[in-house]
Amino acid sequence: MDLGLKGRIALVTGGSKGIGGATAMLLAREGAYVAISARHTEELDEMAARISRETGGQVLAVPADCTKQDEVSVLVRQVLDRWGRIDVLVNSIGAAKAGIFLQLSDDDWQQSLALKLFGQIRVAREVFPHMQKQSWGRIVNVIGTHALLAEAHAMPAGVANAGLMNFTKALAELGGPYGVLVNAVSPGTVRTARLEYLMSQGVEYNLKTITLGRFAEAEEIANAIVFLASERASYVCGSFLTVDGGQIKCI
Ligand SMILES: NC(=O)c1ccc[n+]([C@@H]2O[C@H](COP(=O)([O-])OP(=O)(O)OC[C@H]3O[C@@H](n4cnc5c(N)ncnc54)[C@H](OP(=O)(O)O)[C@@H]3O)[C@@H](O)[C@H]2O)c1
Repeated sequence: MDLGLKGRIALVTGGSKGIGGATAMLLAREGAYVAISARHTEELDEMAARISRETGGQVLAVPADCTKQDEVSVLVRQVLDRWGRIDVLVNSIGAAKAGIFLQLSDDDWQQSLALKLFGQIRVAREVFPHMQKQSWGRIVNVIGTHALLAEAHAMPAGVANAGLMNFTKALAELGGPYGVLVNAVSPGTVRTARLEYLMSQGVEYNLKTITLGRFAEAEEIANAIVFLASERASYVCGSFLTVDGGQIKCI
C-alpha cells in the first residue's frame, strides 16, 4: 500500500530515540522530509545522521525543550523556514513520574504534566494554525494505555494520558473541517529507555497479562503512528489506536 507520504513534511518531537526515533526513521523510509527534535543534541544528531544514512532522506535536527514555549516557537519556525510547511506532527515526548502516591510531590506532578500533557498540547498549538491554513494535516499524539488502565503506581502518567485523550478528541473536532486529522496511538509496554527508567523505579511488569506474552518493539508502535499520519487514514479522526499486544481486555 502506498501511504502517500512521499514529499510530505513531518515533525517528530521526541525523535532522538525510542518510539519517536523509530517513527522518524519509518516516515523517512516512506519518502517524507523529517524534522526531529529533543533536548540532547548528541543523541539527536546521531539519530539524524542514522536516518539520513539508512534512507537517503533529508533530515533536520532541531534541539528544543518542549516544556518551554520560546523553544517550541523556534522549533516550528525552523521547520517552516527550511521546508515552508508542516504536514505531519508526531508528538512523542513525555515521561511522567512513577511512584508511590503519598511520596509524589507537587513538583513530581507538575513536571509530569508539564512535559507529557502540556508539552504535547504546546507543540500542537504551535503547528495547528499552519496545517489549518494549508487545509491538510495529520497530528498523532503518542499517549499510552495508562489513559484507560488506572494503576496506583502510575498516577501522573494516567492523569496526563487521560487528559491527552480528551485533548485529542477536542482538537480533532476543530481540525476535521480543515482536513487536519488528529488521532492518537496508545502503546502498551515498549522496549525503550523509558521502560528501563520505569523498571529502575521498581515498576514491575507481568508478561502473563499481555496476550502476546512480550513487550513491544518501538518499530511496532511506529507502524501504527505512520499509518495515522498518512493519506490512507483519511477517514480516521479523533480515534485512539491501542497497540498493546492485547493487554487491555475491556472494550
Ligand atoms: N516506552 C513505553 O513503554 C511507553 C508506553 C506507553 C506510552 N509511552 C509514551 O510514548 C512516548 C515516547 O516514549 P519512549 O518510550 O519512546 O521514550 P524515550 O525512549 O525515553 O524517548 C523520549 C524522547 O523524548 C525526548 N524528550 C524528553 N523530554 C523532553 C523535553 N522536555 N523536550 C523535548 N523532548 C523531550 C527525549 O530526548 P531528550 O531527553 O534528549 O529530550 C527522547 O527523544 C512518551 O510520551 C511515553 O510516555 C511509552
